Amino acid sequence: MSTLLQINSGIFGDHSNSTTLANEFTSQYLAQHPATQVVVRDLVSQPISHLDASTIGAFASTEEDRTPEQQALLDFSQNLIDELSAAEAVVLGLPMYNFNVPSQLKAYMDQVARAGVTFKYTETGPEGLLADKPVYVIAARGGFHQGQPSDTQTGFIKTFFGFIGLHNVQFIYAEGVNMGDDAKAAAYSAAKDAMSKAFA
Ligand SMILES: Cc1cc2nc3c(=O)[nH]c(=O)nc-3n(C[C@H](O)[C@H](O)[C@H](O)COP(=O)(O)O)c2cc1C
Repeated sequence: MSTLLQINSGIFGDHSNSTTLANEFTSQYLAQHPATQVVVRDLVSQPISHLDASTIGAFASTEEDRTPEQQALLDFSQNLIDELSAAEAVVLGLPMYNFNVPSQLKAYMDQVARAGVTFKYTETGPEGLLADKPVYVIAARGGFHQGQPSDTQTGFIKTFFGFIGLHNVQFIYAEGVNMGDDAKAAAYSAAKDAMSKAFA
């Protein structure tokens, strides 16, 4: 059975627009791919610590010199990487907070970017080591940012996932959700329409 990994990073739980729409995406995906197991990684209810020197030290440690504390830090990271590797597709609920991704999501990215495990440097540049798979990003924003310098998320997310080998990143936008009821309804409608076409 294949797996869809749903990563939530909205701070308002099921009231988050990004999570609500990611849930909708998962429902639509399941309707078309019934033999799918859904794994939910909620980065807000199960927060990940900010990257620090101890964690980087654990990542760089060798098996013979590794302390039990370093092994625990390594296991935590490896568990997240295994979960991401095992998925056939990923849907990421992505709010915009203060012109960037939620810090909870950045902490996750810092755990899954591992030299020699998810990427390596070669003579011709960096090479992602994860097997490619679709990553569907549900981007909820209060205002409108697509194609403007204020959209710091689209390029960053594509660059990051491409760096670890996931090049098939598709964005589904819900923009203007804080600009009145009509704008929010239009954003939801556009996002639902886009997701119905994303994996048809
Ligand atoms: C702390 C905070 C910061 C926000 N910053 C921005 C912003 O920089 N640009 C924007 O367009 N909307 C901003 N918004 C609005 C959110 O993008 C919008 O509410 C969106 O639905 C967030 O996703 P969520 O509902 O999944 O949490 C902000 C909202 C919050 C709570």
